[in-house]
Amino acid sequence: MNDTVAQYLTQHADRFVDELKEFLRIPTVSADPACKPHMLRGAEFVYRQFSRLGFNAEIVPTAGHPIVYAEWLKAPGAPTVLVYGHYDVQPADPLDLWTTPPFEPTLRDGCLYARGATDDKGQVFTHIKSAEAWLNAVGALPVNLKYVIEGEEEVGSRNLEDFLEARKKSFACDVAVVSDTSQYGPNQPAITYGLRGIVAVEMTLTGPKKDLHSGVFGGAVANPASGVARLIAALHDDQGRVQIPGFYDDVTPLTDAERKQFADLGFDEEAFKAELGVTEVFGEVGYSTTERRWARPTCEVNGLFSGYTGVGPKTIVPSKATVKITCRLVPSQDPHKIVQSLETFLKSKCPSSLTFEFTSYHGCPAFVLDPTSPYIEAASQAIREAWGVDTVRLIREGGSIPVVQTFKDVLGLDTLLLGWGQNTDNLHSPNEHFSVTDFHRGISASAGLWQKLAEMPK
Ligand code: BES
Ligand code: ZN
Repeated sequence: MNDTVAQYLTQHADRFVDELKEFLRIPTVSADPACKPHMLRGAEFVYRQFSRLGFNAEIVPTAGHPIVYAEWLKAPGAPTVLVYGHYDVQPADPLDLWTTPPFEPTLRDGCLYARGATDDKGQVFTHIKSAEAWLNAVGALPVNLKYVIEGEEEVGSRNLEDFLEARKKSFACDVAVVSDTSQYGPNQPAITYGLRGIVAVEMTLTGPKKDLHSGVFGGAVANPASGVARLIAALHDDQGRVQIPGFYDDVTPLTDAERKQFADLGFDEEAFKAELGVTEVFGEVGYSTTERRWARPTCEVNGLFSGYTGVGPKTIVPSKATVKITCRLVPSQDPHKIVQSLETFLKSKCPSSLTFEFTSYHGCPAFVLDPTSPYIEAASQAIREAWGVDTVRLIREGGSIPVVQTFKDVLGLDTLLLGWGQNTDNLHSPNEHFSVTDFHRGISASAGLWQKLAEMPK
């Protein structure tokens, strides 16, 4: 990488961490209506990062939380890169399980602990600091950059597609870059060429119009909690296979070559079990743990509530029971079709004595990048230099980033998913953290990437 840029990164390393802490102090929980004012503060923080570097920047209001858009287009003839990230974070609860408060970023054992540290504030910040380094140290960037940093990724990116559609014409770019995924393991940087899609739904079954005395009325009316439990139990067979009719119909099966590629990555099942605190892995029969996580569709209960959940006993028949469910999707599965099959299936199994309500939240299809994309080599080189390793693995992952398939569909763009995080960073869990070393390596890889992309043959 450019020596002047590298020097700037070293000189300003500590300040980068301080600024990231400032970003992390803003509780930008997109799902929580009480955080609305903080969402704007978050967007303003991001906006200022760009405006002070001389980017054309704007805060774009949406029906939900604002999008920050910023561009620097002073490298005529050079490629244009679209950088995407999100400044919103997941809710921090359960709060009592955090060692230090989620919005008071704390350095411990070489990691920065805070909600959003790895997902995605710390990661998206690497691409902002790399641009800063080029502009402040050299005075120009080797590529043109357009940043879209949104505030609704964790709630399904509801308003982003409209934004992209509206600006489609002015959005000409060559490639998209996203850092919102993980490495394969510590010191094992990777490029992710596939993500799963998702659909999120909620079902409520209602019995009596109010909670009833279970002695006086129990046995005479259907219990909605039991009803929900029966439906949930019907979702899988005991071999872990999803029982919704047609669920697997459109699934693109893994090729033998991919199965071998996954297996060759090596996977430490004992360490995996220990990390998660489980005695056994479990999932669809006939597939390895890696295949189940990256390339097989699933149906998961995310939350379940009904009746009395306080201390001690309370003898009631609850009025209602609710379950939140998500399915992770793989290539060729259609989110709309899956939601429909799921609703039809649950409805068909619902006892006639209970009322059925069904809400569909958000959905996105799976993503796969052509593994022969020439951009992969440019990114690998930049990562190898920053990490000082020989290999950058090509992996898939099980999580979802709704917009990446939209980049392909609406803008025709390939996306490079360059994850600087670790799956053990506790994303979406208490004590989320991000390695400070990986933060700095990420900045350095990003700064190198701008140059590698500029040097690519046209
Ligand atoms: N950064 C994650 C996605 C991710 C994490 C991908 C780790 C690969 C490895 C992202 O912020 C996220 O959590 N997305 C949601 C999307 C959903 C709410 C539509 C997800 O996957 O649950
Ligand atoms: Zn997330």
